[in-house]
Amino acid sequence: MMSTATPSLPFVVCTPAEAAREIATEMLDLVASRARAGRSAVFGLATGRSPLEIYAELVQRVRTTRFALDNVWTFNLDEYLGLPARHPQSFAHYMRERVFGPLGIHRERGILPASDLAPSQVAAHCRAYERAIAEVGGLDLQILGIGRNGHIGFNEPGSTRECRTREVMLDETTRADAAANFGGLERVPTRAITMGVATILEARRIRVLAFGASKSAIVRRTLEDAVGPDVPATYLREHSDVRLYVDAAALGGLSRSGANR
Ligand code: F6R
Repeated sequence: MMSTATPSLPFVVCTPAEAAREIATEMLDLVASRARAGRSAVFGLATGRSPLEIYAELVQRVRTTRFALDNVWTFNLDEYLGLPARHPQSFAHYMRERVFGPLGIHRERGILPASDLAPSQVAAHCRAYERAIAEVGGLDLQILGIGRNGHIGFNEPGSTRECRTREVMLDETTRADAAANFGGLERVPTRAITMGVATILEARRIRVLAFGASKSAIVRRTLEDAVGPDVPATYLREHSDVRLYVDAAALGGLSRSGANR
């Protein structure tokens, strides 16, 4: 008989700073254990507000300890299409300023989808992105935020469980949320390249962040709605090593009984 049980998503209720300390420790432990095995750790990284404290924590640990992160591989989830590579709102700029520069990650090891491709180049670029992840052994740990519409990466509502790295049209909620950064909705790109849901779910570990009251409605739907394309974040419930870090505001009125500690 087929089970009708809905898979659940383990979550931890904590502050952003506590999440950052725990995840940074996990990442540095992975770097050390992969180094003992003679290989580099491979991280999938997100931009946006949610992971900022993790990056700041990593920068601080690298500055104050003997840890080096210069030999990791990192792959970003997504990038806007149609922006010059050095545009201040490009995710490449965000990563250079906050992560690659301060952590000393060489540009060949800190990889993002390109933002300035001609339409004829996009499909081959997306295939090459998937290949590049596979060639370094796949993602050891993926960091994710959740969009208010339930997107992960830029896998907007409607994205299937099987989709892979590809060009997407951005949802109006996503564009509206970015409008302030771009100085107006009309300046926000309409298209992007994103890792697919299948690409994300192949990561060996996934750590998800959702903080603040603006995330409470989507956290509830991520935890409770049927798994499927209406809320792509629900697909995370099918992963065997996933953890959601939420603060009390993002958990809203939900019971903490699902918390895994
Ligand atoms: C960013 C990304 C997005 C964000 C999400 C949450 O690279 O892929 O899915 O993680 O929109 O954004 P914040 O963290 O700004 O709330």
